[in-house]
Amino acid sequence: MILGLETSCDETAAALITGDGAIRSNVVSSQAELHARYGGVVPEVASRRHLELVMPVVREALDQAGAKLRDVELVGVTVGPGLIGALLVGVAAAKALAWSRRLPLAAVDHLQGHVASLYLDPDPLEPPFVCLLASGGHTLLLDVREHGVRPRVLGTTLDDAAGEAFDKGARLLGLGYPGGAAIDRLAREGDPTAYSFPVARVSGLDFSFSGLKTALLYAVRDLAAGELDDRRADLAASYQRAIVRALVERTHEAAAAVGAGRVAVVGGVAANSELRASLPNAMLAPLPLCTDNAAMIASAARFSEAISYPRYLALDACASSA
Ligand code: KG4
Ligand code: ZN
Repeated sequence: MILGLETSCDETAAALITGDGAIRSNVVSSQAELHARYGGVVPEVASRRHLELVMPVVREALDQAGAKLRDVELVGVTVGPGLIGALLVGVAAAKALAWSRRLPLAAVDHLQGHVASLYLDPDPLEPPFVCLLASGGHTLLLDVREHGVRPRVLGTTLDDAAGEAFDKGARLLGLGYPGGAAIDRLAREGDPTAYSFPVARVSGLDFSFSGLKTALLYAVRDLAAGELDDRRADLAASYQRAIVRALVERTHEAAAAVGAGRVAVVGGVAANSELRASLPNAMLAPLPLCTDNAAMIASAARFSEAISYPRYLALDACASSA
């Protein structure tokens, strides 16, 4: 079995999968509530909480899988990109666990992890495909050709990530943090055509969401006192429509540009119901595997070259993508 660990942001997660990609357990302890009062993740607070949670979460993952540490043959851990202090907690825990049983360790790139959420049972997807990766930290269009090989980047965001646009929009609407899921829920009650928010057209296959955020800011600012409560759902629906439209258009363009027959969507924003409905023919990451989790990290570990015992003791985390 493969033990996966993920601590790159505000989720402390551990999972066990089999050598052929069946999930045995997938435990995610979210710190979102802890950070909500600050309106975003506080890195130092996140690191300390990871430290408290990481071993209980590993134990819970083993228990739920009905497994012992001696059943683990490989440890996979996120080494970046992410918050450096948060990453270091997972990397140190993974090294200690692997070292204690002389196991190999796979250093996993978080973004490759999101892509590998598509490689798990019961419906594993085989490359090649074009993948839209939309999360709180990234918005990427990837040309995925092979398992475990870093894909070519076809497009990315020039400013905010799609999830960040959701979170900042939610904040302007007074919906708290993280706000993507809250906008998604509220948008169902609103009229997406009530406001016409701009979808930025930048060249190539890139994205830009900062103008949209400013448009929402102005729309909220222009409301009369007390009017926000009545218009919140319409604003959420129109704002979501603009983000989804940008993502869908660019994804189709990317698929056409590389002649890809199949399109996949992963990352936290892949949980968005309007995005899912707007790409009916796409392979969508299963809902529980869209937001950060460790099953996807274990899945990526399956396809990466493991570092043998004890060479990984020198392994370091890296805040940005290599
Ligand atoms: O992949 P993820 O868990 O973490 C990163 O790697 O960043 O993505 C988190 C992001 C947040 O911005 C959150 O607001 C967004 O995913 N998100 C959603 C939904 N659920 C989570 N955005 C839109 N609609 C949702 N249903
Ligand atoms: Zn993520």
